Amino acid sequence: MDSVDLIWKDGRFGQTTRRDAWWKDAIPVLVVFSLFLIYANWAAWQGNHYTWGPYLSPFYSPLFFGDSEHAWFGPRPEWIPAFVSPALLILWVPGLFRFTCYYYRGAYYKAFWADPPACAVSEPRNSYLGERYFPLILQNLHRYFLVLACTFIFLLTWDVWKALWWKDAATGHVGFGIGLGTIVLAVNVVFLGGYTFGCHAMRHIIGGVMDRLSESPARLKAYQCVDCLNGKHKMWAWLSLFSVGLSDVYVRCCSMGIISDWRIL
Ligand code: FES
Repeated sequence: MDSVDLIWKDGRFGQTTRRDAWWKDAIPVLVVFSLFLIYANWAAWQGNHYTWGPYLSPFYSPLFFGDSEHAWFGPRPEWIPAFVSPALLILWVPGLFRFTCYYYRGAYYKAFWADPPACAVSEPRNSYLGERYFPLILQNLHRYFLVLACTFIFLLTWDVWKALWWKDAATGHVGFGIGLGTIVLAVNVVFLGGYTFGCHAMRHIIGGVMDRLSESPARLKAYQCVDCLNGKHKMWAWLSLFSVGLSDVYVRCCSMGIISDWRIL
């Protein structure tokens, strides 16, 4: 039995010969991800204060049913229970996309499941089934959530476009304008785009099906773009997590009258 076997099979949870602060990556993931999950769940179940002016919170986009002009199909129909907020109908897509992300898997397996807590640190279990068996084999659905998540990027871009058009309450006239919220929503789309289009599975979609990528210059260029984003996937993952949460906070605070939107143009 070599030293690695000793650490993994016979060691107490957390036992290691490492002398560095091996826990320093896992603790921030645990804290920030937990706070985000608490806030996102709270905001998603609220079912109100998700629009203000031409703004729509990304937690509620696309808005299928609702009392806002953003709603695709008008007010909530009777067959949808009142406790089901519009966000609950759609948030499973970005939620599962993020949950199954290769980067986040590596991060939350360590931070939440301690499986293992870090490289060469003993875990609380004696067996390791990995992602070849149920339930973790479902993580392979990530590539399909990527396709759905890409449609969300285009829908959120459309929301930014709509956030440029302001209706005058008195006259009903619609005119061009930019508020701080427009910028907030636009930055959010940039961060979410950087995260989504830099997905590991996107590299396969773009270039993985070809033996010689160099034979298709356009595809090669696209692959290089994805590769460039992918190199900073962790950064995009966290930036987009913060931006989507802060976008909801901004729209919510405007709607609740806690802050006033700064009209730039
Ligand atoms: Fe992170 Fe696909 S690997 S979004």
